[in-house]
Amino acid sequence: MTTPLAFFISGTGGNALNLVKACREGRVSGRPVLAIASSPKAGGIVRLEDEGLPVAVVERKAFDSDEAFSAACYHEVETRGAKVICLAGWLKKLHVPPKWEGRILNIHPGLLPEFGGPGMYGMNVHRAVREAGARESGCTVHLVDNQYDHGAHLAESRVPVLPADTAEDLQRRVYVEEMRLYPEALEAFLKSRDYFTSGV
Ligand code: GRF
Repeated sequence: MTTPLAFFISGTGGNALNLVKACREGRVSGRPVLAIASSPKAGGIVRLEDEGLPVAVVERKAFDSDEAFSAACYHEVETRGAKVICLAGWLKKLHVPPKWEGRILNIHPGLLPEFGGPGMYGMNVHRAVREAGARESGCTVHLVDNQYDHGAHLAESRVPVLPADTAEDLQRRVYVEEMRLYPEALEAFLKSRDYFTSGV
């Protein structure tokens, strides 16, 4: 049994593609059914379409509120029958209504809670880690709730911060771990819950 999955992207789609590949190779018991892109300029759109995945573009500026924007995203997801959403480089605020609580995952390119919260995304995280003089960084897969980077942690991987590291060096080291961690964490999550018994 495979769980129908949706991927939400804002950028390159690297994590989403990695999860699609993991599903197709049988390492994740999920079935990719669609992706949502928050911008028509997201580089991941073409890459995911090339993999045969339909991609819907839903832009925040077309809506008056985070709630209305989020509802439009869920409408696409529910129309395609996805039961679990994986945020993969998604940069927009997503409102989580009760029916989606516990079924949305995210990967954050830093350790939480120290290096999370509003404004902590992308290179900002790696720069903050350098500036704090932290000896370790990493990535965290967590459930998504209505506060930034706040939901329950599902998995974490740590990497060293070396004295000569630039933020870009750190980004590359963490990203390698993201590619390993997200499929593993998603598979463990899907195995631990039965999504076919709950309606969307
Ligand atoms: C990743 O570093 C991820 O942790 C963060 O956004 C970045 C997206 O990269 N949430 P990509 O678009 O998947 O390559």
